[in-house]
Amino acid sequence: MPPDRKSLLVVGGTSDIAKATALTFAEKGWSVTISGRELPVAQAEAANLGLRMPGSAITAVALDILDTASFTPFLDNLPVLPDAVLLAVGLLGDQALAEQRIDHATLVMRSNFEGPCLLMGLIASRFEERGSGTIIGISSVAGDRGRASNYVYGAAKAGLSAFLSGLRNRLAAKGVHVLTVKPGFVRTRMTAGMTLPAALTAEPQELAVSIYSAVEKHRNIIYVRPVWRLIMTIIKSIPEGLFKKLRL
Ligand SMILES: NC(=O)c1ccc[n+]([C@@H]2O[C@H](COP(=O)([O-])OP(=O)(O)OC[C@H]3O[C@@H](n4cnc5c(N)ncnc54)[C@H](OP(=O)(O)O)[C@@H]3O)[C@@H](O)[C@H]2O)c1
Repeated sequence: MPPDRKSLLVVGGTSDIAKATALTFAEKGWSVTISGRELPVAQAEAANLGLRMPGSAITAVALDILDTASFTPFLDNLPVLPDAVLLAVGLLGDQALAEQRIDHATLVMRSNFEGPCLLMGLIASRFEERGSGTIIGISSVAGDRGRASNYVYGAAKAGLSAFLSGLRNRLAAKGVHVLTVKPGFVRTRMTAGMTLPAALTAEPQELAVSIYSAVEKHRNIIYVRPVWRLIMTIIKSIPEGLFKKLRL
């Protein structure tokens, strides 16, 4: 591997957005480590990416975002602390089920908030110690305001966005860049079967290009597609007395 090749760790490397982003980084010459909750699946993704990018440096590791006790040994066992980490783990879950079953609500909250934040916090401290690093966290516009249709997921993403904001504030002067990505709709496995408005729905490849560009430009928060920033500004500005009567 060339010594100047930058390295990306992808957490949730089997996600459709992660796969597209990993390919974009690999095309730009980065080495990529794909993490997935099952090693054979992560290895298959790594092999797939290697086939599409001959000559690239792609490896695979296992990590379950619910297994918080494994995070420190996971990081200790990485051959190298990466230059950047992409957090792409997420679980939409079933809002109606989460209202009925505490175990499902717990799973959604732990998958989108607890695990991601605890892992990013550990990585942030290692980046801080080294004096460099980029954290890319995929949150969601769903975290910008709680809505009846998905507020368990949305609240977990709101917590993730706040955590990333705190990391950014803490590490701005320490050489560590924190990028929060807020997609609207993206055509992936997560949204399969949903009827999505074409003008507001991005492809994973669009996310990948936007993320790479935002890393290069040291952006703080991006919305994909950008029109979502306007949409969420309007939604956030609706007075609560009116908002509670709406079904958006
Ligand atoms: N698609 C959208 O419209 C949209 C909109 C806004 C934000 N997002 C966010 O974008 C990110 C990527 O999602 P996606 O759309 O690409 O969906 P996806 O293909 O369903 O990806 C979800 C990823 O999370 C992983 N994951 C779930 N639980 C895990 C666990 N316990 N341990 C390790 N990995 C786990 C999945 O692994 P497995 O393959 O093992 O299940 C998969 O890699 C997520 O954070 C999502 O919330 C998506």
